[in-house]
Amino acid sequence: FDAVDIIRTKRDRGTLSAEQIAWTIDAYTRGTIADEQMAALNMAILLNGMNRAEISQWTAAMIASGERMDFSGLRTPAGTPMRTTDKHSTGGVGDKITLPLAPLVAVFGVAVPQLSGRGLGHTGGTLDKLEAIPGWRANLSNEAMMRQLSEVGAVICAAGAGLAPADKKLYALRDVTGTVEAIPLIASSIMSKKIAEGTGALVLDVKVGSGAFMKDLAMARELAQTMVALGKDAGVNTVALLTDMSTPLGLTAGNAIEVQESVEVLAGGGPSDVVELTVRLAEEMLMAAGVHGADPAAALKDGRAMDVWRQMIAAQGGDPDAALPAAKESEVILSPASGVLSELDALSVGVAAWRLGAGRARKEDAVQAGAGVRMHAKPGDVVRAGEPLMTLLTDTPEKFDRAKEALAGAVRIAPTDVPPLRELIIE
Ligand code: URA
Repeated sequence: FDAVDIIRTKRDRGTLSAEQIAWTIDAYTRGTIADEQMAALNMAILLNGMNRAEISQWTAAMIASGERMDFSGLRTPAGTPMRTTDKHSTGGVGDKITLPLAPLVAVFGVAVPQLSGRGLGHTGGTLDKLEAIPGWRANLSNEAMMRQLSEVGAVICAAGAGLAPADKKLYALRDVTGTVEAIPLIASSIMSKKIAEGTGALVLDVKVGSGAFMKDLAMARELAQTMVALGKDAGVNTVALLTDMSTPLGLTAGNAIEVQESVEVLAGGGPSDVVELTVRLAEEMLMAAGVHGADPAAALKDGRAMDVWRQMIAAQGGDPDAALPAAKESEVILSPASGVLSELDALSVGVAAWRLGAGRARKEDAVQAGAGVRMHAKPGDVVRAGEPLMTLLTDTPEKFDRAKEALAGAVRIAPTDVPPLRELIIE
């Protein structure tokens, strides 16, 4: 095969064969197709799409680029077989749901092998958040992961270098070539990792709105349907929810402050939207794994989920009782008017948190544990002129101005009549 021929085929809206796709992914992983050629092919895919068969072959080729984990032998310390279930979010602002969710599901005896990622652009990364906890380690060997699943029931860790290496390389290329927002590329990226991870059941939280990669409902629905089909073809019982990402989840967007909010949820409190989505996703994950009639809301209230959280953090070297790092500097943004907060834009808050240091400008940058945005009101809340609306947090105060620029126009305050708020769980 020839890379230029393959690029021309996609450029001219042709269909690639399974052999061409397998060759392309393998050659790119080994370095015989150059970055500029793969970038051109990605752009042709973004503009002209791929059919279901091509997406399925692209996904299979990415899985075949690395190892596949196998949890079929997983047993409790007493020797009982354990089923596995997992969740994946397509990325959002303030989306800390994995933190309370993984231990919550484990309460009911189903193991959660959560391989998570780092922040991308304005969206936060689960590993970056957990690394705010003193001592906590993201990297585990496959053996350590198995042991923790058996003993604790939940693990959140980094995917090893051997898992879908084609995706790691491709993702970094897409990030810098404007080719992240393509349904075939997102669907194959997410599903190759989840299928290679070896989970038995999977719930996809597909985000819709300004803070998501898919801004509109029809595209998010198509992404969800594509991923569910890929999962089912691979024998993974997969379901998807479409959920709102037009405003941040909860009242925090950052790293340490999101851990703190997750711990509040595990202690039976926390913002109602975070609790609602955590409980709903837990129900879906358990049902997808064949467990019916569980009551996850009760396990948040009575401390069972908190017990698993503490074991899960400690098993990875973290101290669940340690004080979390706080930002050195803060600046409060006051409400410009009195009324009802009718809009708090997710993308603006995400970009502000990112610029304050919660995210990275380049792949190799470190994030600030304490940085981010703490919100004091959510859409639907009454606000008064001159009262705090948000607190910006950073160790590097020269970043306040750029963060405030990102927030210009993020907030709308209605005098009295507020349009109905968006539903959190859309479909
Ligand atoms: N998350 C992923 O893992 N891959 C994508 O392409 C987009 C979001």
